[in-house]
Amino acid sequence: MCGIVGAVGAELDLASIFDGLRRLEYRGYDSAGVAIIHNGELEVAKASVARESMDVLADWLSAQSFSTGQVMLGHTRWPTHGAPTLANTHPHLDCTGDVAIVHNGIIENFRELRAELQERGHAFRSDTDSEVIAHLLEESLRGGERPADGLGRVFERLVGHMSIVVALRSYPGMLLGVRRTSPLLAATHAHQSFFASDAPAFLALAEQFYEVPEDVVVVLGDGVAGDGGALLATLEPLSIEWSSQDAVLDGFASYYEMELHQSPEAFYDTVSALMTLDHEAVVDQLSIDPYELRRIRKVVIIGCGTSYHAGLVGRYLVEHLARIPVEVDVASEYRYRDPILDADTLVIGISQSGESLETITALRECIASGARTIAITNVIGSQLSRVADGVLYTRAGPEISVASTKTHLAQIGALGMLAIYLGELKGVLYPDESKRRRRELLEMTRLLRITVQRQDDWHAMLADYLHRERFFFIGRNLLYPVAMEGALKMKELSYIAAEAYPAGELKHGPIAMLDDQAVVVALLGKDRLHDKMLSNLEEVRARGAKLIVVAVDGDTSPDDLADTVLRIPPSDALWSPLLMVVPLQELAGWMAQVRGYDLDKPRNLAKTVTVE
Ligand code: M6R
Repeated sequence: MCGIVGAVGAELDLASIFDGLRRLEYRGYDSAGVAIIHNGELEVAKASVARESMDVLADWLSAQSFSTGQVMLGHTRWPTHGAPTLANTHPHLDCTGDVAIVHNGIIENFRELRAELQERGHAFRSDTDSEVIAHLLEESLRGGERPADGLGRVFERLVGHMSIVVALRSYPGMLLGVRRTSPLLAATHAHQSFFASDAPAFLALAEQFYEVPEDVVVVLGDGVAGDGGALLATLEPLSIEWSSQDAVLDGFASYYEMELHQSPEAFYDTVSALMTLDHEAVVDQLSIDPYELRRIRKVVIIGCGTSYHAGLVGRYLVEHLARIPVEVDVASEYRYRDPILDADTLVIGISQSGESLETITALRECIASGARTIAITNVIGSQLSRVADGVLYTRAGPEISVASTKTHLAQIGALGMLAIYLGELKGVLYPDESKRRRRELLEMTRLLRITVQRQDDWHAMLADYLHRERFFFIGRNLLYPVAMEGALKMKELSYIAAEAYPAGELKHGPIAMLDDQAVVVALLGKDRLHDKMLSNLEEVRARGAKLIVVAVDGDTSPDDLADTVLRIPPSDALWSPLLMVVPLQELAGWMAQVRGYDLDKPRNLAKTVTVE
């Protein structure tokens, strides 16, 4: 969602703080703005020209007569209330021009607050929910309250999940921050202090990061009303294993392409960290007694988007390897289902960022119902990792592209390892079988490398489809979630209408949509449903649709049916989703690239979704 950066200190180098804001571009945004206090003056600059906004701001900054300041606030906006216009871009000011605020999240009761403030004579300049914060704080300060107390009182009146950072012209050495559920980190380094919504903003600026405690106003700088440095010293620093170099493009034209190529290593690092050299389980971060896990009678997996699709693959893995019934749901739906949970239920929350609000809130409710919980996340110290009883980290490194690739493979790897462990605990897998399964999973790295290296061969084969506008993805069994992920990638990167179906469902309705303009992408595994899938391909063929089949090397059965066959190496059917998804990620990326779209920052999307 929105990205926040704030810095305070004597002689701040504004260009390096702005660089921190740039590092949050990957979260997705439509407009951006900064507020700077220098020599007691508050300057605000905004740009709302979509992804070029950052360049406009950089030009503005370098054209100024000053290059240092005492305070800098920066914000990238992903709109929830109000169009992406200049007026709606943050920072927002109060009526006097003393208070500048940036905000991430949603203020659910902003309409009442706005009406009340307007009645008292406040003039609003934007359609945002955020602006009420500046006006409410203006009133508190006018009433003589100290800034931290005033912000605390304002915050109590705001309903919803959010993080806020405030700068005051009348207190130029101070920065205030507060949050509820939404992410906000703080750091201090060499007489400078920082707030940011996301660690990458800090990577070049500070070494130790702390999470701002919920509902506590933290004051950074030489604030008269508090000492943020002293508060931070009482907190546990977060361990962030990434360096600023990890997030640098490595000769690739886009992070999407780079991260797709990093998939085998992301997968290997994840899976190998969860086993010994002798293929025994390593589960020290699970923090759930094996005795309790043995008692589990139901598994629930929740997540959003690509993480949800990994969860759907996980269902097949857990049911097959551990013989425990599994339910999978999107987090935003599960939370409102009034689910039936008890201490014998294990809930697995999957989130690359560990900050998707819906996954966090759903997991919290599961905890309240007495279930045991595990987080699968890529971000050490993220909220999801701290909310859950135990955690399995995916070790994919930072994922910058909004569209996930390598973390999806790492998530399936982590789920595979968990399924094997549960199978072992439940006595479904004998120790030698579980070791064999772990070795097999690790060996998938080699097949993944081969698959990823085939992309150039596929490009030439896909030329005929570049201008098609209707795609259907079909698969069966554990290849159906892969089809769903293929359709999601196509939509989010290429903006092409794409739907996914279990192949057997086509004849129950969707087949009516097939004609010679449609393209069907079919996943043909070498599994027990292979021949049934071939019958489904015949049905497609008979309707004149173009047919791309993803099949394993040596399987010639689709050759007469398909217009194009994309080949992947053969593997155990259980692990085939790891390979099958790669050509679909590549297809969507290639279509988007040829059409001239930005692969890393698809329109309307945010990398981390911290609103409901
Ligand atoms: O950080 P999370 O894994 O919780 O994010 C969930 C989804 O927002 C995310 O997977 C989204 O669908 C991506 N754009 C997929 O490419």
